[in-house]
Parts: sequence; structure tokens; C-alpha cells
Amino acid sequence: MERMRRLRANAALRGMVRENHIRIEELIYPIFVIEGEEICNPVDSMPGIYQYSLDYLSKELERVIEAKIPAVLLFGIPLHKDEVGSGAYDENGIVQRAIRFIKSEERYKNLIVIADVCLCEYTSHGHCGLIQNGIILNDETLPLLAKTAISYAKAGADIVAPSDMMDKRVGVIREALDQNGFISVPIMAYSAKFASSFYGPFRDAAHSAPGFGDRKTYQMDPANGREAMREVEEDILEGADFIIAKPAMAYMDIIRNIDTSYHIPIIAYNVSGEYAMVKAAAQNGWIDERKIVMEILTGLKRAGAKMIITYHALDAAKWIKDDERNS
Ligand code: PBG
Repeated sequence: MERMRRLRANAALRGMVRENHIRIEELIYPIFVIEGEEICNPVDSMPGIYQYSLDYLSKELERVIEAKIPAVLLFGIPLHKDEVGSGAYDENGIVQRAIRFIKSEERYKNLIVIADVCLCEYTSHGHCGLIQNGIILNDETLPLLAKTAISYAKAGADIVAPSDMMDKRVGVIREALDQNGFISVPIMAYSAKFASSFYGPFRDAAHSAPGFGDRKTYQMDPANGREAMREVEEDILEGADFIIAKPAMAYMDIIRNIDTSYHIPIIAYNVSGEYAMVKAAAQNGWIDERKIVMEILTGLKRAGAKMIITYHALDAAKWIKDDERNS
């Protein structure tokens, strides 16, 4: 007679039949770099996450190296913002300088540096594109995104990750990279990116909340799964090398559908709001943080994610190592 419990009888058996695992080499850790000196500002809504000025960045990078996390995703917080987001494509912008710093240090030579390409942290209005009469312009924004991507590649970024959700930006960025000699720099495209309330804490961390309105004219409606497949298809045709789905937990069907339909590495972005909820519940003693985080990350793998961008990465890496040692 069939009995499902036979293979659950002990840890060794359960280990043998376990279908999904999260590995340290699949983690990507987001870092916020801020203009200025001697800054290590805690982000209130994201316990454990800080904004670092360049002189303090090494402290965090040492932890990343020690944890054997292969990649960081950089976000910048500039001193000045303007209508056209010039800080994003300034050769001496905060992210450009952070990349150059990382790439100049021998000890970080194997670290993959991914640069988020968007204008919202750099525009005075907080939107991801140029504005005219309250409208977020698409095609006029594209050259600025391309300029940003090129300046990151010039600074030494290993991968660029456009998160703006303007139509056609992947193709325009690909062409610009190729024309400037960066044919080998991959594009990690935020393709299935929803207009989500789960980004709230990130906007505190990156000072990037829209000054008016919302992002619903460019980010996707959370109700639409079929449309996400069209976004992914477009981006693949335009030259995306990886696809990001974001947020993660309320959108696991999206990850699963992309995985079923396309043969491209998928990255789940376990976003700030998801992190904040786990942290808040853990701080109250309502959940077991370690077990919950590992369950979430494993669930994302099961859904079809190849890699995971997560603010839990440093902790998760420690726990993964621990579990290996004890098993
Ligand atoms: C920039 C960007 C955002 C996030 C990543 N890149 C914010 C937004 O779109 O409003 C969110 C990440 C997170 O919540 O952790 N466009």
C-alpha cells in the first residue's frame, strides 16, 4: 500500500528525497550607498539594513566576502536630485564611484557588482522617467537610461539591472552597451515588476518615493499574470540575459509561469516589504526568523527561481553554512 510517510521517517531519508535547496552562490545582496562621509544610517523599516557612505562600505563588503555571497546589487542615494536625474549618469555619481572603489580593491576581485539602472533615486519628483505636464515620458527617458547603464559599465559594473519599467529600455540599453564596447556586460532585466506596496520600506531606504501620483502607468497591475509573460517575452527579444520577477512571495505563480515558458535564468526579488514583515514579526517573537526565511527562500526556488535577491542574504548564508556543517 502506498504510504507517503515512509520517506519522512528520519532526517537522512528526508535529506535524500529533498527536491529543492538554496545555495549561497544563488544569493544576491542589495546594498545602499550614500553620498557623504562616515555614514552608516540604519533604515528604520528594514532592521539590519544600513545606508553606507563609501568610506564605510568596506565593513559591509567584508561581511559579503566572508559569507561567500557572489554578488551585490548597488543602489545609490545622491546628495542632489534634479528634474532629469543627472546623478544617475554622472561619471562621478555615487554608484559609479562605489563601483570604481570595489573594482580597485584586490580583495573584492571575484565579487560580481550589479548596478540597478533607474532614475527614481536621482529625480526631484521621484519618478523613474522624465516628466512633462504630469506625464511620465517613455521614449525621452530611454537615452538617459542607456547613458546610466554605459557609465556603470565604464566604471566596471559586471551586470546592469534596469528597474524603471519604461517600454523598450532593454533593447536601447543593449544597443548602447554593444556600441560602446560592452558586448559582454549582461542585462538583468526587471521584467515582471509590479506596482506594489511591498516597495514601501525600500523607498525609505533609497529616498525614492514618487513626489506625486504613483507608478501605475509604468509598473504592472498586481492583478495581471498573463501580461507579465508578455513583458518577459519583450525583454528576452530585446536582449535580456536574466529576468527578475518582483515582488516574490505574493507572485510565485509569475515565477513558475516564466520558468515553464522560457529558458532563461530567473531571479526572484524578495523585496523590502517582505523583509520588513518578517523582521517585525521576528522582533516580536511571533515567528522563528531563521526557519521562516529559509522556508521563504526554498519556496522561491521551488517556484522556479534560479537566484534570489534578498536583504536576508547575509543571515541566510550563515544559516546555510551552519546547516551544511550540522548535517
Ligand atoms: C527602483 C527600484 C525600486 C525597487 C528596486 N528598484 C523601487 C520602486 O520601483 O519603487 C524596490 C526594491 C525593494 O522594495 O526592495 N525603481
